[in-house]
Amino acid sequence: MTMNWTAVGLEDVAPVVKPDRGEREAFAEEVRRGLRRARKELPCKFFYDAHGSQLFNRICDLDEYYLTRTETGILMRYAGEIAQALGPRCTLIEYGSGSSIKTRILLDRAKDLAGYVPIDISRSHLDAAARQIRLEYPGLAVLPVCADYTQSFDLPARCATGRRCVFFPGSTIGNFEPEAARDFLRGIRAQCGSDGALLIGVDLKKDPALLHRAYNDREGVTAQFNLNLLARMNRELDGDFNLSQFAHYAFYHPGRGRIEMHLASLCDQDAWAAGEQFHFREGEAIFTESSYKYTPQEFERLATDAGYRVEHRWTDSRRWFSVQLLRAV
Ligand code: AVJ
Repeated sequence: MTMNWTAVGLEDVAPVVKPDRGEREAFAEEVRRGLRRARKELPCKFFYDAHGSQLFNRICDLDEYYLTRTETGILMRYAGEIAQALGPRCTLIEYGSGSSIKTRILLDRAKDLAGYVPIDISRSHLDAAARQIRLEYPGLAVLPVCADYTQSFDLPARCATGRRCVFFPGSTIGNFEPEAARDFLRGIRAQCGSDGALLIGVDLKKDPALLHRAYNDREGVTAQFNLNLLARMNRELDGDFNLSQFAHYAFYHPGRGRIEMHLASLCDQDAWAAGEQFHFREGEAIFTESSYKYTPQEFERLATDAGYRVEHRWTDSRRWFSVQLLRAV
């Protein structure tokens, strides 16, 4: 694995600050690449600037957005079983830890952890969350790593051996194309070692009308979340997108088994961003996100292809969401 940036415990060394300019330039490059295409698209990871992260937190509280609430319910109900299944002296490694809210449910029960490694792309979120976790769980070794978990990165040396479990909640795996999901799961398997495990949240296939509602809330928060991508290009890349001339469009595609989110142009228009002009025909859309839904069998197939077996599968009574413990084989 190549080094991305240095992984260190905050108590050991001063934080490694990621260069702001680099981040912005990476965004600009992806924007130019995505918007030059015949079928315009932008990677969904760019939703999560400060404003987008706030909007996402509001989404999680929406009546229609059952995912967060259901997953949290499963974790609370089965935290004891989950903690037991992790095994003794396990290091819990969380991909995209944010404010570590769901993690606390596990930390409350898993009293025997060898350490907690939160991984997040946002240095400020990571620092604040790590500080807070240390206060709440004295005695727990907290070893934050500032990294983009979709790129390769190194674990802190002191937890690169021993029993490891990656925690990847939220059904973020749904954002990956199935083949990319398989490769990503394989990468985690390599990082966790031969007896490693992956505790993952997976949203399940269900009535398409329910799925549709979850991404088309009445308050329009999801629409704001989607449109924030245009606002972010305006803010960070000197863009001049007219937000009132784009519409949030999200739907469930049963054949593909995924929610698709788009930003549809309401007229013929040009917009600048990242030093380039882009033309939009009326009705033309930017594809901004896929959110795949799986049946338990489909996900088991994916896990098997990636080198795991499904050791446990916890679900809610309506079988809307699952938390699964995959064990490397
Ligand atoms: C955070 C990727 C799980 O796909 O449901 C919420 C993001 N997009 N509403 C999802 C999202 C629109 C969310 N994930």
